Amino acid sequence: MSTSKNRIIVALDYDDGDKAWNLVEQLGDEACCFKVGLQLLTAAGPQFVRKLVDANKRVFLDLKTFEIPNSVAGAVDSAGALGASMVTVHASGGSKALNAAVKAAEPYPDLIVLGLTVVTSMNESDLAEVGVRGSVKEQVLRLAKLTVDAGCQGVVASTLETQVLRRELPKETLIVTPGIQLDGGKSNDQERVATPKAAIQAGASYLVIGRAITKALDPKAAFLDAVNGMP
Ligand code: C5P
Repeated sequence: MSTSKNRIIVALDYDDGDKAWNLVEQLGDEACCFKVGLQLLTAAGPQFVRKLVDANKRVFLDLKTFEIPNSVAGAVDSAGALGASMVTVHASGGSKALNAAVKAAEPYPDLIVLGLTVVTSMNESDLAEVGVRGSVKEQVLRLAKLTVDAGCQGVVASTLETQVLRRELPKETLIVTPGIQLDGGKSNDQERVATPKAAIQAGASYLVIGRAITKALDPKAAFLDAVNGMP
C-alpha cells in the first residue's frame, strides 16, 4: 500500500481557481492528490485540472454523474482525456450506467472508476423521502455490490459503512472515504464523520479531506496532522 500522504486526497472545494491553486502551493510537494468537484470545475474549467496534472498531481475528478449510459460514458472519456486519475459515477444510476463508465475508461489504464453509494449527508429518513426503504447501511451495501459487479475498481463510502464493505467486497476493491474530521476539529455538515486513524482502521484505501485542511489556520500543518494521525 502506498505511503500515508499518498492516501490523502485534498478536496479543493473553492469558487475560484486562484484560491484553489494557492492552497495547492501552500501544501507543496507533500500533497499529491486533489479532488476537483463540480464547484471548482464549473468556476475554473478543465484547464485547472490540466494544470494540476501538469504539476504531477493526481486528480480525483468528482463528476458524480447520474445520467443516461451514453452521457456517463462521454463524461468518463473526457475525464480520462484530461488526465484524471479517478472519476465518480452514481451507482444509483444502475448497472447500465456503471458498465458504460467502465467501458469508457478502458483506453485510460490509470483512470479509476468509483461508484458513489449514499452521500454522507443522507440518513435513513432522507432515503425514505426518495422512496428507498431500509437502512443507509443496506443501501450502501446494495450499491457497492452493484458497482463492483459492473467492474468498477472502487466505491465511495463513509467510515461507518467501510468496515462492512471491507468484509463483503473483494479485497482489491478500493474504498474512498469522505467525512473526515481531524482530532479536536469540529464536524461540519457531515452526518457520518471519523478521524483519519478510524477511517484507515475501518479499511479505507484513500481519505478525502476538505475543510479540515482548507479552512485550517495552517493548512499544511493540518495536512501533516492527518498524515501523522494515520496508523
Ligand atoms: O467535509 P469536507 O470539507 O471534508 O468534504 C470534503 C468532500 O467530502 C466534499 O467535497 C464532498 O464531496 C464530500 N462530502 C460528502 N458529504 C458531506 C460533505 C462532504 O460526501 N456531507
